[in-house]
Amino acid sequence: MNIQKIGIIGAGQMGSGIAHVCSLAGYDVTLCDIKAEALTNALATIRRNIDRQVSRGKVTAEDRDAALARITTGSELSLFADADVVIEAATENEEIKRSLLKSLVPHLKADALIATNTSSISITRLAAVTDRPAKFMGMHFMNPVPVMKLVELIRGIATDEETFAAIHDLSIRMGKETAVAEDFPAFIVNRILLPMINEAVYTLYEGVGNVESIDTALRLGANHPMGPLELADFIGLDTCLSIMHVLYEGLADSKYRPCPLLVKYVEAGWLGRKTGRGFYDYASEKPVPTR
Ligand code: CAA
Repeated sequence: MNIQKIGIIGAGQMGSGIAHVCSLAGYDVTLCDIKAEALTNALATIRRNIDRQVSRGKVTAEDRDAALARITTGSELSLFADADVVIEAATENEEIKRSLLKSLVPHLKADALIATNTSSISITRLAAVTDRPAKFMGMHFMNPVPVMKLVELIRGIATDEETFAAIHDLSIRMGKETAVAEDFPAFIVNRILLPMINEAVYTLYEGVGNVESIDTALRLGANHPMGPLELADFIGLDTCLSIMHVLYEGLADSKYRPCPLLVKYVEAGWLGRKTGRGFYDYASEKPVPTR
């Protein structure tokens, strides 16, 4: 299958990162979001991040300009009429994703593929709301998308081999490596990563350590590039909580219960870096622990 035009739904941190790597890999990209402000911010972020790659000699100025020129933005799903693949990267909320996917399909070419960047929700269930479960699969990118090498690939029960091969090839052309996961709650990366983050929040909640000691312990004691609480703020505490809910409900095991402190932070609107406050306060140049 010849893929040239890629549609991306959602211009948040994942959607803009996916647009960044797709455009640099030579694809025409249409980035769609209902919020005009999200699109303006996404374009500024993509430019800033490619500029950083130019300043480090990883991308040439001509390639940057050509990549930026390949990105079109807008708010209408009808913009995807000629897309070969649409990658859904909306908020990690099943109702939102289902309703978006339902509205999307009438606008697509008959042979267009759909990939979802969900980090935890059942691919089979999302595929079932579309008219093409055989042409639907999970393509889970990691944050920050331009830096992280992995794309996790997940087939739904109905995904056909042609679709799998096309999305696998696309991932490789984007310069990524792949790991294949079965369609179970949170797949591989988040099945392992999120319980660790949740346990770090319990460690804080029970007073075993403070924010700084927990993050230092894992950074220096296990060689993690970021401590678990710093990473939680980076992912977004709302996303962390919704993945824990998917694990807890999907696997019906109390070991996945979300820590009440994580729930409290989300209820307070302290969602991490994106809202300026989470386990750290980001108001000053150097983040300050909030506990
Ligand atoms: N775009 C382009 N390049 C970027 C970038 C971005 N958004 N962010 C960082 N970089 C580049 C920098 O330019 C730099 O490049 P060089 O190696 O050429 O110098 C390199 O990445 C390292 O960046 P920094 O020196 O600024 O910062 P750092 O060394 O502290 O690394 C980090 C930053 C890569 C984010 C690192 O801290 C890290 O790996 N953290 C862990 C990230 C992680 O675990 N992500 C997965 C989250 S889980 C997930 O995404 C799944 C889910 O569904 C929840």
